[in-house]
Amino acid sequence: MELTQAEKWMLEGREGQATRKAMEILAALGTIYGADRLLPVASVQIAGVSYDNLGEAGLEFLAEMASDGAKVKVLTTLNPAGMDIENWQVMGIDADFALNQQRVIEAYQKMGIVPTCSCTPYLFGNLPHYGEHIAWAESSAVCYANSVLGARTNREGGPSALAAALTGKTPDYGFHLTQNRYPTLTVQVQESLAGTHDFGTLGIAIGKVIEASRVKTIPYIRGIPEASMEELKSFCASIATYGGLALFHMEGITPESALFEAPGDCLTINRSDLEAADRFLNEASAIDQVDFVSLGCPHLSLQEIARVAEQLKGKKVRKTFWITTARPTKRIADQMGYTTIIEKAGAIFATDTCCVVAPIQGRFKAIATDSAKACYYAAAKNGFQTRFLPFDKVIEEALK
Ligand code: F3S
Repeated sequence: MELTQAEKWMLEGREGQATRKAMEILAALGTIYGADRLLPVASVQIAGVSYDNLGEAGLEFLAEMASDGAKVKVLTTLNPAGMDIENWQVMGIDADFALNQQRVIEAYQKMGIVPTCSCTPYLFGNLPHYGEHIAWAESSAVCYANSVLGARTNREGGPSALAAALTGKTPDYGFHLTQNRYPTLTVQVQESLAGTHDFGTLGIAIGKVIEASRVKTIPYIRGIPEASMEELKSFCASIATYGGLALFHMEGITPESALFEAPGDCLTINRSDLEAADRFLNEASAIDQVDFVSLGCPHLSLQEIARVAEQLKGKKVRKTFWITTARPTKRIADQMGYTTIIEKAGAIFATDTCCVVAPIQGRFKAIATDSAKACYYAAAKNGFQTRFLPFDKVIEEALK
């Protein structure tokens, strides 16, 4: 891989040991994937923030990088942490975990990383534009950035995202190259869809077919006349989880769909496919056992929080109900009075975190949520049973 003079100096350690290590990671990745150069990135989003996932070894690595003088060169934001940074006691987080989680955040902050702790950085300040090269890590955000925004990113791992942040560079391969963004399969949707649950269901239906085929696929989805930002973020989380996808095109909705023809190979999704996908996450035994309700995977938008407030006004929830969102969104919810209404009803804001990355294994039996991705990890990571419901029905479940 060809390096510029400035990149060679980083590799030689002229900008410190942390930057040298970062450049070594990128040079190795570039060689493995056959990149011929490094590209400048406009922003980075780092996953691997929860102490529950990082553990002591991860924390020590970050602390060492920070004390080596590592400093980011571009706007860099963080994925959710394992707890609400300001209000972790309300979530039932133990003090040792909280201390370690704080040390993780401090190490990142010392490097100049913005502790937004959210998987929806595009809602507040980390919003790449069409065609811009970025290095993001969170799978749902990567899919959203590539597909909905038309930005260009591979799905970075923890070390490669951090390396991109410290150098402002990423190897030019994969989704950075136009030839790797062409659709390979037409998906014709024959049912009308509405809401985050329906779009999550579509993500399961398409994702499972693609995953089973074991062929790298970029779908070109037709038959969806409109989709809101919230529906698209739900779809991105779902299709990234069930199909491992980082890019799709949706005719008339995503920007690059206009550049490509629909491929000849076609998969049809009809009502019975969607019903089967929905059944897949609705365990019959969970119906009477739901003791945990959560909305906000991916993190809730302000409009979604307003909808929760409207439906909880003057009522009381009867189950543990988490509202997961980003700190900047929560602050506006505070100003708008939504937080007061929601907290009066007994629901809890789990800001900066989510029901997947928080350490809650063993605390609940069954979760109700509108998120296909949250259902997947609730079962796989925490062993919970799952009720996969439309947004408003999730709120009703909390009130039962
Ligand atoms: Fe975000 Fe956590 Fe879901 S990181 S996409 S809310 S699993």
